[in-house]
Amino acid sequence: MLFSFKNAKKLLTADKKQRRIYRYKLLNDIAHRNGWRLHSPRYEPWNDPEYLRILEAGGYVFNDKKFMIYQLAKSTANMAGDTAECGVFKGNGSWLILHAEKNPDSTHHVFDSFEGVSEPLPTDNLNRPGAYEWKKHDMAHPLESVRGKLSPFPKTQYYKGWIPERFAEVADRRFKFVHVDVDLYQPTLDSFKFFYDKMLPGGIMLCDDYACPGTPGAMQAVEEFLADKPENAVTTIAGSGFIVKHG
Ligand SMILES: C[S@@+](CC[C@H](N)C(=O)[O-])C[C@H]1O[C@@H](n2cnc3c(N)ncnc32)[C@H](O)[C@@H]1O
Repeated sequence: MLFSFKNAKKLLTADKKQRRIYRYKLLNDIAHRNGWRLHSPRYEPWNDPEYLRILEAGGYVFNDKKFMIYQLAKSTANMAGDTAECGVFKGNGSWLILHAEKNPDSTHHVFDSFEGVSEPLPTDNLNRPGAYEWKKHDMAHPLESVRGKLSPFPKTQYYKGWIPERFAEVADRRFKFVHVDVDLYQPTLDSFKFFYDKMLPGGIMLCDDYACPGTPGAMQAVEEFLADKPENAVTTIAGSGFIVKHG
């Protein structure tokens, strides 16, 4: 069936105020049955002026996952503790984390090879339909360019190297927000293994690649890691996933 008659009937009988919502429900129903998704007109994140201002200043356009980074970083912004990003590429995620920050004592730590992704493993399920065919050094972006972009934020530390080589340098720090965005199984697992114990209660670990068909190794790594932990991952509508660290 193309759509639900219930929604069509409601649209026909709705008053003027309600018509917009029922029109959305009917179109969303048709879209859903065809494998597409529509955003609800009840909430339009792409019209959030604060977020749009920060995006524009960063020089790029709206993206659902980036919106989640900003929202979740904001939720921990008043806490004590540091933030980190594993996998920084052009620095857009860190740009949002740093803009969300409200504690002048917090430092942001950036970990990346700055030579792109590491060698994919069979656990990256390269033959799975929809999985990206990663090649070592894909997404390479130079450190100096990221340093330039994030120069308005002096409390940023850079660690160039293959994850987890340089994690030991922050072993004495405690974290309130960590964004793991390295696409592949092994560096995702290494990042969760290292940072989990360093998270403050209520701190958030966000995995950008958690529920994405292109990066099945990342979800496998997170699920394996969480198997014996009390936290469960929350999947965001954008395709990322996060945990809130228990006490
Ligand atoms: C998807 S990009 C990150 C995007 C960024 N977080 C953002 O929000 O715009 C993935 C990054 O992970 C880095 N990366 C992948 N595997 C890595 C590894 N094993 N060690 C260090 N960096 C790695 C790549 O160099 C690349 O910059």
